[in-house]
Amino acid sequence: SIRIKEQQLPGSDRLPISFEDWEARAKVKLPVQAFDYAETGAGSEATMQANRSAFAHWRILQRILVDVADRNLTVPLFDRVYRFPVGIAPIGRQAFYHSEGEVATARAAAATGVLYIHSMVASRSLEDVAATGAHRWMQLYLGHDLEVVASIIRRAEDAGYTGIVLTFDRPEIGWREKDMQNATQPVTSSEGVGNLVTDPVVRRKYSLPLTPDSVQWITVNPETTWEALSSVRKFTRLPLLVKGITYPADAVKAIEAGADGIIVSNHGGRHLDGAVAALDRLPFVVDAVKGAVPVLFDSGVRHGADICKALCLGADTVLIGRPFLYGLAVAGEKGVRHVLENMIADFDLTMGIAGHPNVQSLDRESLQFIGPCG
Ligand code: FNR
Repeated sequence: SIRIKEQQLPGSDRLPISFEDWEARAKVKLPVQAFDYAETGAGSEATMQANRSAFAHWRILQRILVDVADRNLTVPLFDRVYRFPVGIAPIGRQAFYHSEGEVATARAAAATGVLYIHSMVASRSLEDVAATGAHRWMQLYLGHDLEVVASIIRRAEDAGYTGIVLTFDRPEIGWREKDMQNATQPVTSSEGVGNLVTDPVVRRKYSLPLTPDSVQWITVNPETTWEALSSVRKFTRLPLLVKGITYPADAVKAIEAGADGIIVSNHGGRHLDGAVAALDRLPFVVDAVKGAVPVLFDSGVRHGADICKALCLGADTVLIGRPFLYGLAVAGEKGVRHVLENMIADFDLTMGIAGHPNVQSLDRESLQFIGPCG
């Protein structure tokens, strides 16, 4: 099992351990526009805060005298066994945070052995990232141009991606006051769309450099309905996952429309203010899915115990978002690696101390619900 590596660096060069320290270091290092874009949530940020406080609604029940010396953290997911039940959430425009952008993140994922999900609005092309050798899935938004979607899916298949994620919790870009104050565009031609401008269909149909309007056209479409999911299902035989589900009936509909997996998420509270915490919805979605397909989870994971709780509530794998992005901002590939390794080491210890020798033994009986006021 993985152990915290003794950090070799002297005093001031030591990398942070806690999420709060990573965030504080990133804030010092980044331009205000970039930091705020990562840190902020929609509106009053109630959803973002709820995502965090939801983890306190559930407490772990410790079991004693179980042999936990040799812990097994592996999980099967589709046709592969992953070393850890942890992956990198899709996050766009990572060159805003480090010059190597997604390539540094994917290298760290490859070194750690975790799944990496590439955003449609990545700064670097999906082919650049494929060269890192990371286990990789491709995430897309459905905009107005499904020919672009089909083209990106074809590129991903050619470049050895093994899963496609469609994100549907963002029919419009949310009301983000700090971004408005800073005049930050949702995506810009320089940082946001390296993956788009390398696409042959984009190059044929749109004039370059892409304008913010054409990026919006390609990546946002509030008219999208369930029929679009059925159409995109026909574009690929790869496992297709729907990200952004918190409503059980939507999970059932997604599976009926051909989805092979569900990602319970509210996008880290970046779009819908006032929503229920993603974690509080996880057991309901898991019950509706009834084991038919894998269920992944993100939104608010910051500690090993958080991973443990999400797995107890039925998630097969947990995705890490903002923590790795701050690692990237502070120290590039090495920073992302530190964040992942520490998070996994913390999870491994938590699981063992709670009395679980493997991920499969984490179940709902291992948690107590203490309610929002507990
Ligand atoms: C995101 N997220 C996201 N999701 C997605 O499907 N495609 C994308 O391009 C992005 N871009 C993005 C940018 C930034 C700056 C953030 C913080 C998030 C959402 C991401 O995949 C994940 O759902 C959240 O990050 C989970 O919340 P926490 O744990 O980071 O708070």
